[in-house]
Amino acid sequence: STNEMSYSYEALQETADYLKNIIPLVPKVGIICGSGLGAYWHEGTLADALDQKTEVPYEVIPNFPPSTVKGHAGALVFGYLSDVPVVCMKGRFHYYEGYPLWKCAMPVRVMKLLGVTHLLATNAAGGLNPNYKVGDIMLVKDHINLMGFAGNNPLQGPNDERFGPRFPPMSQAYDRKLMNQAKKIANDLGLGGNIHEGVYTCLGGPNFETVAELRALKVLGADTVGMSTVHEVITARHCDLTVLAFSLITNECIVDYETQEMANHEEVLDVGKMRQVILQKFVGKIVDYISTS
Ligand code: 6GU
Repeated sequence: STNEMSYSYEALQETADYLKNIIPLVPKVGIICGSGLGAYWHEGTLADALDQKTEVPYEVIPNFPPSTVKGHAGALVFGYLSDVPVVCMKGRFHYYEGYPLWKCAMPVRVMKLLGVTHLLATNAAGGLNPNYKVGDIMLVKDHINLMGFAGNNPLQGPNDERFGPRFPPMSQAYDRKLMNQAKKIANDLGLGGNIHEGVYTCLGGPNFETVAELRALKVLGADTVGMSTVHEVITARHCDLTVLAFSLITNECIVDYETQEMANHEEVLDVGKMRQVILQKFVGKIVDYISTS
């Protein structure tokens, strides 16, 4: 049912049909919960907080890639957030795990086939912009697809017009109206000094960047750096989902050779935990706005 460049439309339809048969709702918003929103811990996450939830582990969903993270199989969690039907990806597929980009992004197409109209993609990221502090939120206004510079893209291979066009534009990937509203919501939550708008870039990982690499990324105009999201957003825009994305700044990128501190995964997860209550409120209000706009 699949070839080596992508899942066929029919294979993904099969996946969507399987899910439709076991869930009692049609999700409007798809939420990708990254390290900032509880992908890799077990209690009190956004996905856990949904009302009337149905949790479907990735491992039982037809055509979903097999998980490579021990103890963190991941799941699609369906339910209501602010009375809005949503689907959360609790954990995502990363390029560094060994999946090709189209496989990393395949759940986005499944969401589309389930009826999702809006994608809210979240991630943990290093702050390159010196104005960004740990715990801040950066709304993604644009991205630099660095892996695309190197000829790697989730849309490579035969194009199926039922998803979208061969040559999709990417100049308005992030919805301005949603971003402006998200900024208002952040202000209302008292996050006025902690909200930014900037450019995200994704590297393949799994290692964090060298000092020279981080300096190069700054020159290119990136404000945050991470290991996800860009290929998901490209896939989402291809099939015409409306996209909002934000980074939780989990560490400030070290761009000198004197500092002894090093980026590490524990720090990334700790900052996510530290900010989970406010982030869940933030996402809840964004979803409410989407449903009423
Ligand atoms: Cl500094 N780099 C990358 N690539 N991903 C990150 C990060 C840094 N901090 C959190 N995620």
